[in-house]
Amino acid sequence: MNTDTVLSLKNVSKKIKGRPIINDISFEVKKGQIYGFLGPNGAGKTMTLRMIVGLIRPTSGTVEICGHNTRKDFVRAMSNVGCIIENPELYEYLSGSDNLELLRKMEPDISASRIDEVVELVGLSHRIHDKVGTYSLGMKQRLGIAQALMKKPELLILDEPTNGLDPAGIKEFRSLVKSLSKEQGMTIFVSSHLLSEIQMICDEVAIILHGRIIKTSKVEALSAGQKITWNVTNVAKAIKLLADDFGVEAVKDTEETLSAFTDDFRIMEINSAMMSSDIGIKYVSRQQKSLEDLFMELTGGETIG
Ligand SMILES: Nc1ncnc2c1ncn2[C@@H]1O[C@H](COP(=O)(O)OP(=O)(O)OP(=O)(O)O)[C@@H](O)[C@H]1O
Ligand SMILES: [Mg+2]
Repeated sequence: MNTDTVLSLKNVSKKIKGRPIINDISFEVKKGQIYGFLGPNGAGKTMTLRMIVGLIRPTSGTVEICGHNTRKDFVRAMSNVGCIIENPELYEYLSGSDNLELLRKMEPDISASRIDEVVELVGLSHRIHDKVGTYSLGMKQRLGIAQALMKKPELLILDEPTNGLDPAGIKEFRSLVKSLSKEQGMTIFVSSHLLSEIQMICDEVAIILHGRIIKTSKVEALSAGQKITWNVTNVAKAIKLLADDFGVEAVKDTEETLSAFTDDFRIMEINSAMMSSDIGIKYVSRQQKSLEDLFMELTGGETIG
């Protein structure tokens, strides 16, 4: 394993009562990356994250964090990880700083000054002495991240951190993650069912569906490619022509439009074939493929949010 690999999963599977939940997944996260773990509800994101942080054991396969196998060398592996799985664990009747103090007492290596540092990092200084019960969801999320940062982890793992946040909260979260990555050099592994989220914050992504990784890729490479939309006089006929003559699967968008993914060089060919088949073309447009489009392409039409 490369020394700048912070997290590595090799052939990880999980069965529960004989039912396969996670099937042979492998991927690597490098130091300093913001790595996205994208998949729809029930795909297996939380289950995978729970295996990474040792809350459950994989049925087979290995997880390594900073080169330490989580099964053979659990304590050392975990000393490098801060995480929030599903929801942060917070005492609502205590203040934010008391919550952090409590955590510090359980981890003897953490210095008292670290509390001020993490509070500053997550931007919660103004409310840190208020009871957590009075916090908004976004503030609780920040406090959760502050907890996860207490032991200066090499790797920060966040499970759908923007769930329930409003657009302003999501925006704030995004800038927090980016600054942790940029200014602290932290490696961040973040799950989401939102394509736009991953696209906005991540460098690389693993896409999970039904417990299998269907693609790992740099985010910018995923976004490359063209989605072509035709506005024509006969959509059904055009879809059939694309399928029969070009092997291209097109989708009917409206009564007058269809779209498909295809390479630039084929567009002219397709246009002239349409015209020879008496399909009138009113216009053709081209747009960058989004991650969402890509997911539909990968899964044959299933959407993820
Ligand atoms: N304790 C359990 N026992 C049996 N099956 C489980 C258990 N926990 C989760 N599952 C199943 O494992 C699959 C993956 O669930 P998981 O919670 O990992 O999905 P997810 O990708 O996190 O979804 P979401 O976006 O809804 O959080 C689902 O089919 C779920 O029903
Ligand atoms: Mg989940």
